[in-house]
Amino acid sequence: MNKPKVFIGKSIPEEVKNYLEQYCECKYWNSNNAISRQQLFKELKDVEGFLESGEEIDDELLLHAPNLKIVSNSSVGYNNFHLQSMKSKGVIGTNTPFVLDDTVADLVFSLVISTARRIPEMDSYVKHGKWKSSDNENLYGVDVHHATLGIIGMGRIGQKVAKRARLGFSMDVLYHNRSRKFDTESKLGVKYVSLDTLLIQSDYIVLMIPLTQETMHLIDYKEFDLMKDTAIFINASRGKTVNEKALIDALENKKILGAGLDVYAQEPVNKNNPLLKMSNVVTLPHIGSATEKTRFSMDMTAAENLVSGLIGKIPKYIVPELK
Ligand code: DGY
Repeated sequence: MNKPKVFIGKSIPEEVKNYLEQYCECKYWNSNNAISRQQLFKELKDVEGFLESGEEIDDELLLHAPNLKIVSNSSVGYNNFHLQSMKSKGVIGTNTPFVLDDTVADLVFSLVISTARRIPEMDSYVKHGKWKSSDNENLYGVDVHHATLGIIGMGRIGQKVAKRARLGFSMDVLYHNRSRKFDTESKLGVKYVSLDTLLIQSDYIVLMIPLTQETMHLIDYKEFDLMKDTAIFINASRGKTVNEKALIDALENKKILGAGLDVYAQEPVNKNNPLLKMSNVVTLPHIGSATEKTRFSMDMTAAENLVSGLIGKIPKYIVPELK
């Protein structure tokens, strides 16, 4: 029997390729450059499966991929899935939850510390031969330990961040979430509060929510106005959960102290984005899950989802809205 044709739109490890090739006829996108939409449409013309990370799966794409049965994201986020379009064409969508939770939580915490203690700025001081003068208070950072951390979105990753904050840094942790997490409250001693209370009381505000129509620009001018002028804002979820203009305004007008960002409204971030010029903003290129081990697990999970969907099994991680 012929193997189903699939297109792999991102680089994946050899071991994952070997696994896929047992079940599928694979075509790979072998360039480090992002594939253009037109090229992608050509590649998807006759495939049944597509493994990728972040391509918009919308009506236009689905029109060019008439045989497509499954799109497998190698990511936990799936805001690239146009759910109604996929549903109406009967295309399955899958993601890779669980395997990246600790890795992303580590990165979130490193953004907290880097921003508070001005690590990249001080690193560049040393490398540019500008050792600090004996006691230059202009270079002081702020403490992380015993401060108040507010987590918006107490999902799996939020809970891992809370654990690091409580056990490692003796922080008070407030959280806001669609539903209360009584288990986490009793296990970790975190406190549920309204969004406004969280914004008013927190020294560090971590945004850890998926991007949906409801969460688009959840943090806007009004929300930045509520924050302390000493607050540090961290976003490692999706850039559009924040109104980036409001964030820039808050930083330029010293409504908050700083920000640590792994995500942006537009990615790759435009080189003229004012955020890139601010020394109190730590900027990373969307690397929350980017360790060798975790990315391997994500790609393997995505491959397993893809194969299941094509050999008549139910993939392990179909996204809830498409079940
Ligand atoms: C995810 O898995 O959604 C991370 O943001 C990496 O893209």
